[in-house]
Amino acid sequence: MDIYVDSANLNEIKAAKELGLCDGVTTNPTLIAKEGGSFTEILKKICEVVSGPVHAEVLSLDYAGILSEGRELAKIAENIVVKIPMLEAGLKAAKTLKEEGIPTNITLIFSAAQAILAAKAGATYICPFLGRLDDIGHDGLQLLGQIRAILDNNPDLDTQIIAASIRTPLHMVELSSMGVDILTAPEKVLKQMQKHPLTDAGIAQFLVDAKKFAH
Ligand code: G3P
Repeated sequence: MDIYVDSANLNEIKAAKELGLCDGVTTNPTLIAKEGGSFTEILKKICEVVSGPVHAEVLSLDYAGILSEGRELAKIAENIVVKIPMLEAGLKAAKTLKEEGIPTNITLIFSAAQAILAAKAGATYICPFLGRLDDIGHDGLQLLGQIRAILDNNPDLDTQIIAASIRTPLHMVELSSMGVDILTAPEKVLKQMQKHPLTDAGIAQFLVDAKKFAH
């Protein structure tokens, strides 16, 4: 199981890397916009720090535009993965980019039906968003379980699941239990995972007791 950082912030990415929590990075236009500066420069800097896959999203919605942007993104660094929205033109472009040897991620997946199409198109990765489904009263984890089962029952569907829009440590635990290939998490969730009140209480008590003996 790989853990990616869902961020375009170099400090967050470097900090996660120091903890062994940066097998790759996912970005999207919203995350890039938060950083300010040039899209290409931000991606170049991330690729200098991260040896694993760095996912960069196209903005075009038509086949020719997605292809052209995808080819340009792939020139930035060897570890760039072209992220493409779940659209008919996106499925077609993913198929073509695969033939050219360019890895792709079909993103903004919110149903098992979309996941099947993305896998059949040859996407290297498919990216279902949990949290946004939970936000509208659906069950994001249930969708992830369904997609896991579909891929397990159909080994000819050669793609990896990246669970995205992760909001809580419980999401991370449940996704790990169901064997999702890759979890991409924001820094906030990776930090929340470290914490437990009993750990803090245990450390505090040990420090109190350590004052009671000679060193
Ligand atoms: O990688 C996709 C992810 O960034 C979306 O997360 O929290 O904006 O739904 P969120």
